[in-house]
Order: sequence, then structure tokens, then C-alpha cells
Amino acid sequence: MAKDFSTMEHSNRSTNPSIHEVSDPARRTLMLGGLSAAIGGLIAPLAGCATGGPGVMAGPLLGFKSVPVSTADTITVPEGYTAQVIAPWGDPVGLSGETAAFKPDASNSATEQETQLGMHHDGIHFFKHPLMQTSSAAGLLVMNHEYTDDGMLHPDGMKTWTAAKVRKAQAAHGVSVIEVEMKEGRWSLVRPSPWARRITATTPMAFGGPAAGHALLRTAADPQGRRPLGTLNNCGSGITPWGTYLTCEENFINYFNGPAAPNAHEARWGLRPGAPEGYRWHEHDERFDATKNPNEPNRFGWVVEIDPFNPSSTPIKRTALGRAAHEGATVAVTKDGRAVVYGGEDARFEYIYKFVSRDRIKPGGAGPNAELLDHGTLYVARFDSDGRGRWLPLVHGNGFLVEAGGFKDQGEVLVKTRQASDALGATMMDRPEWIDIDQQGYVYCTLTNNTNRGQTGQYGTDAANPRVDNSMGHIIRWKEDGDFDGSAFSWNHFVLAGDPANARPDAKGNVNGDAFACPDGLWTDSRGVLWIQTDMSTSAMGRGDLARLGNNQMLAADVRTGEIRRFLTGPAGCEITGATATPDGRTMFVNIQHPGESPSERSDPDAPTRISRWPDGTRPRSATVVIRKLDGGVIGT
Ligand code: FEO
Ligand code: CA
Ligand code: CA
Repeated sequence: MAKDFSTMEHSNRSTNPSIHEVSDPARRTLMLGGLSAAIGGLIAPLAGCATGGPGVMAGPLLGFKSVPVSTADTITVPEGYTAQVIAPWGDPVGLSGETAAFKPDASNSATEQETQLGMHHDGIHFFKHPLMQTSSAAGLLVMNHEYTDDGMLHPDGMKTWTAAKVRKAQAAHGVSVIEVEMKEGRWSLVRPSPWARRITATTPMAFGGPAAGHALLRTAADPQGRRPLGTLNNCGSGITPWGTYLTCEENFINYFNGPAAPNAHEARWGLRPGAPEGYRWHEHDERFDATKNPNEPNRFGWVVEIDPFNPSSTPIKRTALGRAAHEGATVAVTKDGRAVVYGGEDARFEYIYKFVSRDRIKPGGAGPNAELLDHGTLYVARFDSDGRGRWLPLVHGNGFLVEAGGFKDQGEVLVKTRQASDALGATMMDRPEWIDIDQQGYVYCTLTNNTNRGQTGQYGTDAANPRVDNSMGHIIRWKEDGDFDGSAFSWNHFVLAGDPANARPDAKGNVNGDAFACPDGLWTDSRGVLWIQTDMSTSAMGRGDLARLGNNQMLAADVRTGEIRRFLTGPAGCEITGATATPDGRTMFVNIQHPGESPSERSDPDAPTRISRWPDGTRPRSATVVIRKLDGGVIGT
């Protein structure tokens, strides 16, 4: 999603651009040996996660012929590949007893939407089947539904605005758990399924960690500050070695109506009157009116842990990971078995974080690790101009993080993670999005874009964010000193995205391969291929610096050579979001978000098919695309 904020409370730290190489020891291999000893016996649903898959990198990684740029209203994949659509918005997830099918005129009720896949698919992960752990032909897909286009969600859009429409919009947010299986090369949902679940913007949840119960999280409806309701703007995601899913609350502030004169805390998070993005929930649900419930916004902006194997489990908002416009949460494991969670916040001039758990991961799955993410240390990144960087501890008592600085305790540091990061002098990045880790231990982060960078009255460039009017975005990477819990790191740029046909030098980029812009989704598969997904916003797509790049796309990178090859192009008006695969690497699942979105990001209900009819010829719907090779081979070879 292209929503972000320009925040000018920071000091300007302009430094010279530079690209640095760092050494490349094969530490990851060593780490994996330590890990298997430390957590042997866990559920291991982690093909391609930071704890590693089979990971053989012999021979050429990329074996497919790249696809050209496309503006067609269809999915394009390379020769020898097929793309099948499953799980579109509005299809039943498979709860027992429910039968409501999707109505193409969008007239399904809120109650029906609560049993159906949500809108605007985003982060996704394939978990091994609870009863068939060795199978690559059955499993659970867990996915985010980031936001709603209310012009498309209701038959007459927002021409009228009712409590029922607000309830439907809330029900179309959140997370879906579906069971899927493959028969004769075709994938489908298993319905009903005992694991099927919808988690929405109203699902009862709990807080865990140091801020649970904090005064800043207490509301009239929850005076203990421990029982929040719902999750929203769920963008990227992550998984843990103990078999849970991490969903991330991104630009949550857009859902709240704020006061005309916000206080400093509210202003730092962009709270404004009128629910700026136009969700209009506050008109029928006072919970989203921050003038009446000023602490309710503090109850969003967290990473939420969900156990997909236990459909009755309560999702937990893990406050130790900090409050931010969390894009994703990527878990690595130290040699001694502690969890390290990386995440960025998708907003202009905001930050990259990492959390290091206090305790070691225990064998036995989710139960023994129920509080693992509640104890540990949160850090924010500072990228220095000499190619080195530091992790600054977001710990009460550190530097300005004391009562005189506006932080009474650790809970307040975590609720005000941005202000704490400001106070420590962290580096303001160009919209940090997804993060993943390669087989050599480099940690990669997409920086989608920041057209405000270096503009009049805005912050200037720095070494890590070196381009003025960064319309194209880049991917930064770093390697920790020692282990993933290291307090310092060395960094460089993996690629500056761009199109060499552009006249503007800062929009040309240095891509070794196929041109692209606005990297967002990022995923390392079990062979070490780095998959890059783009999010050129519909308001900018096809124009200016992006004129020749067509629709959003997915590319594959060989991180050893830097080569980047275009693998997939999406239908009109979409962005490409999460990616995941079966353990055998022969089925890949990719989410297609908001096909048919108009440049205003709000569809005309009288012309829902004006931009796209993907995937089934009627009202466009976000959906999951299943990619297979015709010869049944491993994807990308
Ligand atoms: Fe929701 Fe950062 O894309
Ligand atoms: Ca995005
Ligand atoms: Ca994203």
C-alpha cells in the first residue's frame, strides 16, 4: 500500500552517498548447524525462512527466461510455467456450517464476509499440514488482508455510509487461515476444515510483553489495558521456528479520527482529523474516534502472533517488538538458539528495528515458546557513512530514554518507539518494507521509495538513502558482526532500482538485469533465490519515471552475482505482495493485491470493472496465484 507520512520532527543528517562491500564469510552454514542442535524436534514449517532450508547453491540459480514488461490485465509467467488462481476475496474460507458464496455485485453481508476471505491479500505463508508434516501436496495457508477499497466492497460503494458497511469493512480486514491440497497438479481449498479461521478488526486479542497493561493502552472498554480488539492494515508477515505466524499492523493511524489540535505524541504518529484515508469507521464505531478514545490508536501498530494450528488460540500483540507501522517481521536464530526479529516500518523517513529474545527457543512448538517474544531487547538501526552501522538499544534509561526525556518506563518507550528512535539518532529510511536473509547471512531490506527525499523543506540524502526524489527505491543489506544479535554491522546496497531509459540520473538505477521500481515484498526461497515484488502505487504507475515499467511484477535475484530477472507480471492496477512455497519448492503461492485499483485508490462503484476484470471476468478480486512448472520442477530453475 502506498500510504505513508512525511515526518519532519527529526534532525537532518545529510551525508555522502557511498556503496561499500563487506566480507562474505559462510557463517550462515555454521549457524544452521548450531540451530539444529539447539532446537531439534520443533515443528519446522520453515522452508526458506531465516533458519534456512536445504540451501544448496551449486550451479546457476535462475533457469527461466524472463518475461517482458506488461500492461495487460493478466498474470504472465515464464515459458514452461502455469499460474492458477485460488482463494479470491469473498470465497468461503471453509468454516463449518457456512455456505455463503461470493456475490459478484458485492452484496454479501458483514456476517457473510466474516466467513469469507478478506480483501487485499498481502503477506502469506505455507505451513506444513498439521497431520501430514512430510507432504508438499497439503498444508495451511495463512495470509493477511491489508485494507479495503470500499468503492469495490459494497454494491454502491460509499454513496451511503452505514454501521453495516463499517462492520463489513472490518470483517474484510485481518488474517485468513485456509487448508489447501493439491490433486493432479491443481490446488484447491479444503472446505470445511477444522483449521479454517478468520481473524478480523474485531477479534478478541491480548497484549504480551512490557507494555501490556500500561496506562497508555487502557481504555474505557478495557480498563486493564490487556484485551485489545482486532488487527488491521496487516501488511507483511513472518513466521517463527516454533510454528506460529506473525502479522504486522502497518499504517494503522489512517483508521482513526483525530483531534483538530493533536498533542505531540499524536502528531508524531500522524493522527489527524477526519480519518484521513477515508475509512470512515469512526462515524459508526466510536472505538476509532480518537477524540473520544485517545488511547485506542496506541493499541495498534504491533506485531501479532497467531498459532494457526490452534484455531481457538488468542492472537497476542507482542509489545516487546515495539510499536511502529510494522511492514513485516522476519525471524533469524542465533547460534545459541535465541530469536532475532527484524522489521521495518513503511513510512517515509522512518526506521529499521531488530528484537533479540532474552531466552532460547525451546523444543515443542508454540506452547513452550508462548512468552518467548515477550522478553528481550529492541534496537533501532543507525547506518553510518563509512559502511558500518550500530544497533541502538531502545531501553529505558539509555541516553534520552528517561523520564525527563518523556519516557516514564519501558512500556512508554515501546508505545512511543518512533519518538525513542528519534531521540537516539537512528537513521530515517526511504520506507523500509520487507526483510529477508540470504544463505550467507546478509539481511536484506527493501526501501520502496521516498519522493520527498532531498526535496525543498524535506530531509536530505544520506549514505544509506543516497538518492534525491527516490521514486524508484532500493534494497539495502547488512551483515551483523558476529551473530544475528550483534550490536554492529557492515552494510551496502544490493541494488538501486530503476530504469536505465530514464533521463533523470537518480531514476536510472544500477540493476544488473531487468528494470524494476519500488521493491516491497522480499522472500528468500530454500535454494537462496531472493524474490522481489514491486509496489508502484496506482497513482504513479505508468507515468514519469515509471512510464516504461508497466504493471507491478515479481523478479528473482541471484544474490551471488546480483543478476535480477523478471519472473511474473500482474494484472492491471494490482500490486504483487507475499510469496511462499511448499517444502519441495515445486509449488509457489503469490498474492495479487488490489487488481483494478484506480489512481485514487477508491474504485467507482458504478464502474467496478473499468480497470480490471481479473481474475474471473467480473468485479476484480485480490487472490492467491499458484505457480507450478509444467514439468513439475522446482520454481525458478
Ligand atoms: Fe503495505 Fe508497506 O506495503
Ligand atoms: Ca506496499
Ligand atoms: Ca508491503
